[in-house]
Amino acid sequence: MPPITTDVGRAVEVLRGGGLVAIPTETVYGLAADAADEAAVRRVFEVKRRPADHPLIVHLAAAEAVDAWAAEVPPSARALADACWPGPLTLLLPRAVHVLDVVTGGLPTVGLRVPAHPLAAELLRRFGGGLAAPSANRFGHVSPTTAEHVVADLGDAVDLVLDGGPCPVGVESTIVDCTADPPQVLRPGGIATEDVGRLLGHVAEPGGPRRAPGMLAAHYAPACRVLLVDTAEEAAALAAREGTRVIGVDVDAVTYAQHLYAWLRDADEAGAASVVAVLPPAVGLGHAVRDRLVKAAAGRAG
Ligand code: TXA
Ligand code: MG
Repeated sequence: MPPITTDVGRAVEVLRGGGLVAIPTETVYGLAADAADEAAVRRVFEVKRRPADHPLIVHLAAAEAVDAWAAEVPPSARALADACWPGPLTLLLPRAVHVLDVVTGGLPTVGLRVPAHPLAAELLRRFGGGLAAPSANRFGHVSPTTAEHVVADLGDAVDLVLDGGPCPVGVESTIVDCTADPPQVLRPGGIATEDVGRLLGHVAEPGGPRRAPGMLAAHYAPACRVLLVDTAEEAAALAAREGTRVIGVDVDAVTYAQHLYAWLRDADEAGAASVVAVLPPAVGLGHAVRDRLVKAAAGRAG
């Protein structure tokens, strides 16, 4: 088992030495490496068993650092950053020349985010540079929202786990492609799509024609089958079947997002054959919850 700690100084040392640290963020735990250390970033891909063409988000201590990592920051991106950072928003921007190909998958853009979790913020401040970090799960699996989830997925392959408790948002950041005109939401997440639309002055529909690499139809999947229904009544009818659990009855979207991944992991641990999930309305965080559930269901289709 990797060491689990709340000691930010120790995490900084491991990162400076080219090691991998699982870090808490307000969305999910990330598997962090120094974004300027090619060998360390390569190890992130190995540990996750993630294909090299799925780029990593670079996490920064403050919005001011964006100019050091992006070649150009359009006014729309500044407006989103001002309103949402620190917070669960990732901006895709033209990359600065020094950004490593291994981080961006060779793309001309880089994903940047300033996380709000206090331990992540302190770590980034003390580390000084950018941290490349995907979610700290095996590729295609459910993202981790506790230190224990990270250990269950990655074990000793990670050098240190910084324990910041359960992630308060529970689903990944909203990704907005600011190189598109108008900017477009590529992944619904912790900032509601409607809020992005309001800030941009136009409705930024999720799942437009452009897709980010890595946004496969089947993703975020537990081992058990995930069955989707629209109402609690349909869920109850299906749940009459043996081995079936129900999630999403009588929960608001914020609570649903917070617990979604833990509930899916719990179902696997209990050996459930399937989970019936009631889809939340497509409003606010409901967009992100629906997106992850649809992908989790696709993961076990057939
Ligand atoms: O909340 C989050 O965003 C978490 C925490 C740890 O910050 N991170 C996260 O990373 O969810 P990851 O790697 O699991 O998902 C990021 C997604 C991937 O689908 C990746 O392909 C896409 O963002 N992405 C990253 N950089 C990109 C780029 N330059 N262009 C297109 N897609 C990009
Ligand atoms: Mg992920």
